[in-house]
Amino acid sequence: MASKIARPLLALVATPVLAALLVGAGTHGGAATPGAPGAGDPYFPDSGNGGIHVVHYGLDLDYTPTTKNLVATADLTVTATQKLSSFNLDLSGLTVDSVRIDGRRAAFSRAGNELTVTPSRALDKGRRFHVVVAYSGVPAHVNDPDGSPDGWIIQPDDSVFVASEPQGAMTWFPSNSHPSDKSTYDVEVTVPDGWTAVSNGRLRDRRSRGGKTTFAWRESQPMAAYLATASIGRFQTEQYTTRSGLPVYNAVAPSQAAAAKPVLDQLPAVIEFESRLFGRYPFDAAGSIVQDAPDVGYALETQTRPIYDRAPRLDTLVHETAHQWFGNSVTLTKWQDIWLNEGFATYAEWLWDAEHGGPSTAQRFATDYALPETDALWSFPAGDPGDGGHIFGKPPYARGAMVLEKLRQTVGDRDFFAILRAWASEHRYGHADSAGFIALSKHISGKNLDGMFATWLYGRGKPATP
Ligand code: ARG
Ligand code: ZN
Repeated sequence: MASKIARPLLALVATPVLAALLVGAGTHGGAATPGAPGAGDPYFPDSGNGGIHVVHYGLDLDYTPTTKNLVATADLTVTATQKLSSFNLDLSGLTVDSVRIDGRRAAFSRAGNELTVTPSRALDKGRRFHVVVAYSGVPAHVNDPDGSPDGWIIQPDDSVFVASEPQGAMTWFPSNSHPSDKSTYDVEVTVPDGWTAVSNGRLRDRRSRGGKTTFAWRESQPMAAYLATASIGRFQTEQYTTRSGLPVYNAVAPSQAAAAKPVLDQLPAVIEFESRLFGRYPFDAAGSIVQDAPDVGYALETQTRPIYDRAPRLDTLVHETAHQWFGNSVTLTKWQDIWLNEGFATYAEWLWDAEHGGPSTAQRFATDYALPETDALWSFPAGDPGDGGHIFGKPPYARGAMVLEKLRQTVGDRDFFAILRAWASEHRYGHADSAGFIALSKHISGKNLDGMFATWLYGRGKPATP
């Protein structure tokens, strides 16, 4: 006891509880409190964090495919959105070697997928700071509630398929991993010569030294963490500029190259088609990543540069490209609204097909409507999947597209495309939700659409009439 009292005051101040008390009583108004461990999304309660906005991620990854070891630093530019005694980041597996805030060592602890960082002094609301996390280890993907692998997905040939929707970002970098936060990114990946690392946005630099090559990528428009990638393979690469001046970078697994080529070559035409319908393409780069990863079982609209688990079909390329407007530029605030991504991207496929000799969108609607009540299409409402295990089920995709076709038939072509374009431009680089889409549709059309959305977006089972 006596020895404890004799400890210098500084040591006492360093204990977190006392430090919080002392700092909380400071002159900056209000007590400092811990940032919440989640962003408050009922589908994925631990995803994201409270009290912080990440302005920018500077990721520096050094990866050795043969050992699967990652040595990395993440430099996050963060704004405190409340007065913080501590805050969390999402991180799954890996070993944290140190955490610094504006250059000073900060205390940290780990529990589950939460990394809690406690600065030596509270961080005032509105303050902008750098948190630098040094970490390492063999990354392991997570399995989503629907059973699919998510995050840093290592392939049998040592290549890495990196796709993180909805929660895999935490498997490869400490993140505020919820779509309600968007940030710009600099991603630098160092790999042994012969390997290529592909991320989002533009390739700023590529340099080789001592048997290793570093690829420096920059995504300069805001991006949700789930749309970040740093995929690694022995790719064949191709770079060109479209007629409208957009730089395209493709990376393709050699086994897929022949099958992928005719489809990837359509990307400029697809971007032109969708720009005509949805307004200008929102990003300053484009391209594709095609891997040989059939066990993954899905493609993802990674920002500016979708990733495919095999040579894609054209309708899949059309779908992932449409997500650049719907999902990537205009982003969800909660996973329940996933139809705003998947219904819109599916409808883009319908529009493309209708324009290229396929059935009309009205015919697609009719064909889907004819499916029996027992079909998965009617198993839950497109606008209310119920939990994270159903967000990639059939209703948000197919029935989500039916909602849009129903809207089109109700308001007419002119207002319908005006709504899509206004949606893309009013929320460009931002966030939106279903209530906002309904309000915009009513505003532009001047029609009361409540009954239509209640039936088609939120109604249970198969609507009685088409
Ligand atoms: N958004 C992707 C697409 O529709 C699907 C992602 C599926 N991800 C998953 N973890 N099941 O193209
Ligand atoms: Zn999709």
